[in-house]
Amino acid sequence: MDPISNPFTPGAGSPPPEIVGREGVLEQARILLGRIRQKRPEKSILLTGLRGVGKTVLLNEMERMASRDGYHTLHVEALEDKPLGALLVPPMRKLLFELDRIAGAGDKARRGLAVLKSFLNGLKVKVGEVEVGLDIEPERGAADSGDLESDLPNLFLAVAEAADERQSAVALLVDEMQYLAPKELSAVIVAMHKMQQRQLPMLLLGAGLPILPRLAGESKSYAERLFSFPEIGPLSEPDAIKALKEPTRAVGVAFEEQALVEVFRLTQGYPYFLQEWGYQCWNRAVSSPITLQIVQDATATVIQRLDQNFFRVRFDRLTPGEKRYLRAMAGLGPGARRTSDIADALGVRITSLGPLRARLIQKGMIYSPAHGDMAFTVPLFNEFMLRAMPDANRLA
Ligand SMILES: Nc1ncnc2c1ncn2[C@@H]1O[C@H](COP(=O)(O)OP(=O)(O)OP(=O)(O)O)[C@@H](O)[C@H]1O
Ligand SMILES: [Mg+2]
Repeated sequence: MDPISNPFTPGAGSPPPEIVGREGVLEQARILLGRIRQKRPEKSILLTGLRGVGKTVLLNEMERMASRDGYHTLHVEALEDKPLGALLVPPMRKLLFELDRIAGAGDKARRGLAVLKSFLNGLKVKVGEVEVGLDIEPERGAADSGDLESDLPNLFLAVAEAADERQSAVALLVDEMQYLAPKELSAVIVAMHKMQQRQLPMLLLGAGLPILPRLAGESKSYAERLFSFPEIGPLSEPDAIKALKEPTRAVGVAFEEQALVEVFRLTQGYPYFLQEWGYQCWNRAVSSPITLQIVQDATATVIQRLDQNFFRVRFDRLTPGEKRYLRAMAGLGPGARRTSDIADALGVRITSLGPLRARLIQKGMIYSPAHGDMAFTVPLFNEFMLRAMPDANRLA
């Protein structure tokens, strides 16, 4: 069928034709936004889940909800190798200028800019060409100590007070939060703690891999009282079927029941995979309905595409030793595996694997769902490892 009208949207953060099965967490966000707007306390939301479950899609949707509710939004994606301060300054500056333009008495937005300029001076890194505002003097001592754990909260306070003065509110959205450096994460937590204590209208909507709750808890023990960590998982069978059926039905195309069941089996309900299978099935089908045969024929193409893109980009970032570790893990079968079994499979002592494991966690490849267990952060990665390295003793 016509690829131009293909309703499926495989990609990173590409909005699906319909956000299926996430009503609960979106309702939670609606309540949070409403309560913080009224300056009532509520836990901020940090979404956690494996790769490709739809965290970024949800964060984008929540940003739209926030804007509709009159929030000013600040959206950043944490990167492994770029300091948070440098990411925050440009959008923060824009936000403060926006607040400054809103009519009303008071000068807290101007003060916010002066604090931002102070914060910029305190950063040990250069932020490209960013100039906060030529006619604004930095407020010395406000946020330039060079210690992020005190400077960032001070900056957030100034920004939230400026929003409050204009009867507005601020939603900070941070994607890939697990990549924040420990200092950065604790600075963000301290800052949000301050917001709650002072009842200022600023909230955090974050997303990250399943390791995020532990990182937050280790950073500040009160994090669990400050944030809620909804787990975003694969879709249930009825939801997965809906995610395939509704978008095609809207354009007069049907799926055979058996075809839907087969796509669910192959994808295990993971949203990104659903979009990939849906997309290829659509392109392969000549007319409605999309049959089981079409699904079976499309599967080879889908797997090839996944192997070449989705899985491969992650595989290529690994050292030979890291590949061997993951291959040993995959060889043990799907699901979480005991670290001791992985060491046995590699024929080495478990203690010698600590640093390697830490690097793989840092790269976001694996996480520990329970003490002594390791699991892949990418769904179906175990099957990919077996295809990429059929022989456990030889590197691909
Ligand atoms: N609720 C949903 N129903 C159907 N498809 C969805 C849903 N949520 C997301 N998708 C699709 O899944 C894919 C992945 O979404 P997204 O990039 O938001 O995942 P993610 O969790 O942020 O992944 P990563 O951890 O790799 O950043 C996209 O193609 C998107 O269209
Ligand atoms: Mg994402």
